Amino acid sequence: MSTKMTYLWIKALHIIFMVTWFAGLFYLPRLYVYHAMPENKSSFALFSVMERRLFVMMTLGAGLTVFLGSVLVFLNMSVLGTAWFQVKLFFITLLLGYHYACFRIMITFREGKNQRSHRWYRYFNEVPSVLLMVIVILVVTRLF
Ligand code: HEM
Repeated sequence: MSTKMTYLWIKALHIIFMVTWFAGLFYLPRLYVYHAMPENKSSFALFSVMERRLFVMMTLGAGLTVFLGSVLVFLNMSVLGTAWFQVKLFFITLLLGYHYACFRIMITFREGKNQRSHRWYRYFNEVPSVLLMVIVILVVTRLF
């Protein structure tokens, strides 16, 4: 296979795992919305199981997206010098921070220590949509 073809296959896989990652980033905070509703108290233990499984899946997605993205950088070092890529890296850092925040929240729920309202989680749930739009627009249009 030509180098160009290999590069494109890796890029395709990079996008596929990014979608897996985002499936979790969209749905896990949604589970927190339900988990934070007092009327769902009888299902609290079940929510914790669902959250843990989803978190494992989305962490695999995150790991593979970052790994394959790094392989792309290795095969095409010149991107490191472009402004759009540096801005992309900045937003990826925010995304990883959000992922970590999801982890912390999962632990808080598991320990029965959640203090936040379901309304708060509804706002928290909007963050990945904004980051997804910013990153995809950035990498596709290369505005900078
Ligand atoms: C550390 C994490 C990441 C690294 C190192 C990385 C790196 C890269 C590189 C080097 C390319 C190829 C650019 C080119 O061919 O010129 C690429 C493509 C792409 N990345 Fe990432 N990426 C990462 C995370 C993400 C995330 C989180 C998203 C989405 C939210 C994303 C979405 C895309 C898309 C849509 C493309 C295809 C762009 C195109 O060729 O038109 N990447 N990435």
